[in-house]
Amino acid sequence: MSANRQIDTMDAQRVRIFDTTLRDGEQSPGCSMNLDEKLQVAAVLEEMGVDIIEAGFPIASNGDFEAVCEIAARVRNATVAGLARATRKDIDRAWEALKGAARARIHTFISTSPLHMKYKLQMEPEAVHQAVIDSVSHARNLCDDVEWSPEDGTRTDPDFLCRCVESAIKAGAGTINIPDTVGYTVPHEFHALITMLRNRVPNIDKAVISVHCHNDLGLAVANSLAAIDAGARQVECTINGIGERAGNAAMEEIVMALRTRHDVLPYTTGVKTELITRASRLISAITGFSVQPNKAIVGANAFAHESGIHQDGYLKHSQTYEIMTPESVGLHRSTLVMGKHSGRHAFKVKLAELGYGDLSDNAVEDAFQRFKDLADHKKDVYDDDILALIDDTVVRQNDRIRFISLQVVCGSTGPQTAELELEVDGVPKRAKATGNGPVDATFAAIKAIFPHETRLQLYQVHAVTEGTDAQAEVTVRLEEDGRTVNGQGADVDTLVASARAYVNALNRLLLKRERSAPAAMSA
Ligand code: KIV
Ligand code: ZN
Repeated sequence: MSANRQIDTMDAQRVRIFDTTLRDGEQSPGCSMNLDEKLQVAAVLEEMGVDIIEAGFPIASNGDFEAVCEIAARVRNATVAGLARATRKDIDRAWEALKGAARARIHTFISTSPLHMKYKLQMEPEAVHQAVIDSVSHARNLCDDVEWSPEDGTRTDPDFLCRCVESAIKAGAGTINIPDTVGYTVPHEFHALITMLRNRVPNIDKAVISVHCHNDLGLAVANSLAAIDAGARQVECTINGIGERAGNAAMEEIVMALRTRHDVLPYTTGVKTELITRASRLISAITGFSVQPNKAIVGANAFAHESGIHQDGYLKHSQTYEIMTPESVGLHRSTLVMGKHSGRHAFKVKLAELGYGDLSDNAVEDAFQRFKDLADHKKDVYDDDILALIDDTVVRQNDRIRFISLQVVCGSTGPQTAELELEVDGVPKRAKATGNGPVDATFAAIKAIFPHETRLQLYQVHAVTEGTDAQAEVTVRLEEDGRTVNGQGADVDTLVASARAYVNALNRLLLKRERSAPAAMSA
């Protein structure tokens, strides 16, 4: 085989990773991010080697528009995509946000299934077909790189789908993305659908076929892999699988399946898998959506061997029970033991070892101070403790409301009382409140300082490590007028962790109040 032919063959097997954590992931309930958080996510995605970053839906809100502009201005290697419905207004706004990018892509979509056309769009198929041509042509006049998606593609009539795909390519779309919007398809059916498009659409060779799978039946990753096997060469996915309802296909699962089972899935991606754990932790810290312990690739137990038989086999030869190494996803068996005598230098070395070598000086200093406090209370400071501190520190950098201190009186005789100090927009404020138990009193004190009407939907505590001196990691979910937000907090004192988590959720709610996207825009 000639060298050129070899490169062509390798390229033919290359799957582009289109990450939509910042768009489809971010628009799901409780997952909103502020500008700074979005920039952190975009930076990690770029460092990972993701091919396309879908940065947002610019017409949805000014916040989305600004975030897409800023990400477009900063990202140099990946393509930055912005979503637009099939209208000139949406497409113009997307282009306005994207035009500063080194590589920009307009991603435009319209529903094509009978159900969506009749009830959601209230349009006849002919009008939808014309909108496909008009929207793609308009986008292509602005931007060389246009992606088109038939929303609810898997429930679309195959003849109509082929016709729309052909017209979109003729109008200038270089990527045709087939969404399984409601997570309805199954692997062999999706394989057949992609095969049909490749066989029936005469100009299909002029476009890259992409797939976008939702996880309502838990099949998003399996469906994406089946589509790759049928010829799709772009997959749309999110970190930790976050997204509408049951989420989107999880990037880490697709990428690691391709890497680990290269023997039967001979495709490659450009993703540096060693950054997976870091990206996963960042998303979880920012959104407050903790990863279930048994989640593939990034769950806390994904590389843990508990049962005696497994441990015995693993110790004799790691591959007996390990199909991929922890290091391949960025989990390090750490060497440096931390304690109260560890100084700044050792702390920085530890951060680098854990994949956080590039934190700002302020973030390192904040985290170091909290580490010192923790080490005063806790004999052994484990990697998970430090990671929990980092998550907590990184997430809070732009908060309007900050936790300062908490004193709680509790016990069996009551009343339980909380004395709390917060800083609101830079101004220190104090309050004292009682409640049905110390958590209730703490939350009442927060309400006294910063009055608000929300419903507490979830209060959850888990220990970061083992032992009675373990840090508590608390998750709080608040709901206000149908908007939900998650907050997280960590501390050796469960009540302090609870206050931090509640305050974190409140900060997210303030952000969400500022930007409320019209419901019809969710895709
Ligand atoms: O799920 C979906 O159909 C989408 C499209 C906009 C690609 O998110
Ligand atoms: Zn989607």
